[in-house]
Amino acid sequence: MSDFIPPYPHRHPKSLGPMDTIKYLRKDLLSFWPEKAFSRNFITIKIVSRSIIIANCPDAVAHVLVNNPGNYEKKSGLMRKALTPLLAESLLVSDGEMWQKHSQLIRPFFAAGQLGKFSEVMVKAAAQQRERWGNLPSGSTLPVLPEMKALSAAILCRVLFGGRLNDQQTQQFVASVSHYLATIEDLDINTFFGLPNWIPSFGGNKTTKAAKTVHGCIDKIIANSQADGTSLLGLFLGLPGNAFSREQIRHELLTFFLAGYETTANTLAWAWYLIAQCPEVEQRLHQELDSVLVNGTATIEDVPKLAYTRAIIEETLRLYPPFPMLSREAKANDKFQNHTIPAGSLMLIVPWLLHRHKHYWENPDHFIPERFLESSPVKPTPYTYLPFSFGARECVAKHLGTVQTTLCLAVLAQHNRLQTRPGQTANPICKVMLRPDNDLPMDLIKR
Ligand code: HEM
Repeated sequence: MSDFIPPYPHRHPKSLGPMDTIKYLRKDLLSFWPEKAFSRNFITIKIVSRSIIIANCPDAVAHVLVNNPGNYEKKSGLMRKALTPLLAESLLVSDGEMWQKHSQLIRPFFAAGQLGKFSEVMVKAAAQQRERWGNLPSGSTLPVLPEMKALSAAILCRVLFGGRLNDQQTQQFVASVSHYLATIEDLDINTFFGLPNWIPSFGGNKTTKAAKTVHGCIDKIIANSQADGTSLLGLFLGLPGNAFSREQIRHELLTFFLAGYETTANTLAWAWYLIAQCPEVEQRLHQELDSVLVNGTATIEDVPKLAYTRAIIEETLRLYPPFPMLSREAKANDKFQNHTIPAGSLMLIVPWLLHRHKHYWENPDHFIPERFLESSPVKPTPYTYLPFSFGARECVAKHLGTVQTTLCLAVLAQHNRLQTRPGQTANPICKVMLRPDNDLPMDLIKR
């Protein structure tokens, strides 16, 4: 079992004052936490005039996400502010009736039957990447984060659009979305915490301009398409009675791309980094791949047998959840145990804290994939592990995301190892999504 403690930002011995909190928040969402936040169950803070409540124990998480979700809307979240210019009122950022209607129609697209079809696309794209790596000399240095982004983009474009995009169009589409994502990295944190405007903010109209470019790109694809059963675009077009306008389809498809692109790419990139630090984990992964994949490349039928590969992904998502902070706004006054939650409070559920909470995890900062195996004597406490959230707003693609990252790791690691250089490190940072602070250059070793 590995005793490796992967990098995490410095934790402050005491809570920061309001101005220091704002200073650190400007940097990112991970570096302002005091040590005690990782052992508290319910935290109330005030930043300037804003009441912020952190639901930091299983009962409080269940209260907000599962038992009383109607009172907690996504309305004021950073994600909503960041993504509305691009996605309008789509699934990820909407609330109320609109969300309910779209959710009912869209969730079946991610059912088990569809997953089988999509998994073929995943394996094919990963096998192509493996072939490309196979043509490189052993010892070549690869920027692992961009490599994993290219793989995720290739898969998502096929899942979204089927074979409608050639390589050049895929690159154009991904470049325009990446440009958009870069503009929202500068998003002002004031809005997230409802802080007054006298605190200077970043960002600007760049975001709207970038969104227009992406819309132009996707509108052309939709205009030339018909219904089919093999892509999400085809499934939208096949819904009876024009359930979604072309504009709504555009926003939903972009939602899937945005929600699925960096989440899966960052998870895979972190997984490679973590594996490279732990020879015993790498060895156990190879043993599993060599014994399960005797007949060649992995398929969806192999996924249940790839328990250790999947445990690596699950542990990676625990340590580095792509969405480390989920935000909701309380619609009406509410009570949780003996705590009053006033209407308008910002309610935060923070996987970054819950996944490393000292009361609920043994060695919370260690990388130990074994904790997710069936055979592990200690199971994660319910509602303390939520990389995909819970309740009605749980990730629609929870299974797709898990299968995709597991299969991609299996296909690539079957014939390759990636090694870091001595002393090389990667720190997590988070503006909108959690990611490594560098491209993770690693040396490719064939096996
Ligand atoms: C490792 C991969 C992924 C992770 C960790 C992840 C995580 C999450 C989380 C935490 C949420 C809830 C956000 C909140 O409540 O504020 C969410 C929602 C969502 N995700 Fe994912 N996701 C992943 C992959 C994907 C993929 C591949 C897609 C699409 C193809 C996708 C589509 C969505 C959508 C549409 C929602 C909004 C659901 C709703 O509000 O009804 N995700 N995801």
